Amino acid sequence: MRNIDEYTITQEVLDRMANAPDRRLKQIMTSLISHLHAFAREVRLTEEEWLQGIQFLTETGHMCDAKRQEFVLLSDTLGLSMLVVAQNNRKPAGCTEATVLGPFHVADAPRYALGQDIANGAVGRPCFVQATIKDRDGSPVAAATVEVWQSDAEGLYDVQYKDNAAHRARGVLRADDMGRVYFKSVLAEAYPIPSDGPVGRMLKATGRQPWRPAHMHFKIEAPGFERLITHVFRDGDQYLDSDVVFGVRSSLITHWDEYPPGPTPDGKESVENFYILRFDFVMNKSVCLEEAGLTEVVNDAHDR
Ligand code: BEZ
Ligand code: FE
Repeated sequence: MRNIDEYTITQEVLDRMANAPDRRLKQIMTSLISHLHAFAREVRLTEEEWLQGIQFLTETGHMCDAKRQEFVLLSDTLGLSMLVVAQNNRKPAGCTEATVLGPFHVADAPRYALGQDIANGAVGRPCFVQATIKDRDGSPVAAATVEVWQSDAEGLYDVQYKDNAAHRARGVLRADDMGRVYFKSVLAEAYPIPSDGPVGRMLKATGRQPWRPAHMHFKIEAPGFERLITHVFRDGDQYLDSDVVFGVRSSLITHWDEYPPGPTPDGKESVENFYILRFDFVMNKSVCLEEAGLTEVVNDAHDR
């Protein structure tokens, strides 16, 4: 087709995908192209503005490496990550809610035995975590694998330091037969997301603040249960209602108890104030689609 104009171009682009072999990809691309074109029409995008957009995306790509994921930050700050999390983690009442993974999870975190200190030299006030992993009936989820990662007193994750030292304030633990997980770390503090790149400039240009309220990340996996990626937030934090990545759920906010110097849960003594975070995670059983006779339903939904 020739002489395509502003009114016929959308349909022409869609028609060119008529023979796309992957139906799901075709569905996603059809929607993406339709919405992109509708957006350009709605705001009457100028050529200068489009060039600026291309430059922004180019800089976002240039900013990415093994330790810095500017595209994740972009998705998070646009609310897209939390939207995708929310619509893929609808859980029955009583289950712990999911929230964003964020860009600071690493695949090779060190393993620790229950009760150990995962801070590994991270700066901050001592914080003891005492968690349980249960199902919706209150039965312990034994042998759950629990990954933890958090910011230190400077509001930084280990991977943000230039020292390339061993991992700090992150680790992998295994729940005991009672579904208990406990360890020592440092108190997580609120922090601004990295704002020395295009995403930071976008936040500034749109009048937004870059902070996340203090939290600890958890990724919990156990056979027969849906994977749970979530945080526990500290109550009273000033950024709970303005989290830059829209990740706060009321059910994930709790009080982290502060104690004066003295005996600590690991049987030692602290010379400074210390904290205890207690939290009960409730896992959702995974649905076996075939057992539930749902495979056809799911496939049909994808085809539509
Ligand atoms: C985080 O909590 O680690 C995080 C999430 C989204 C963007 C930046 C950081
Ligand atoms: Fe975080």
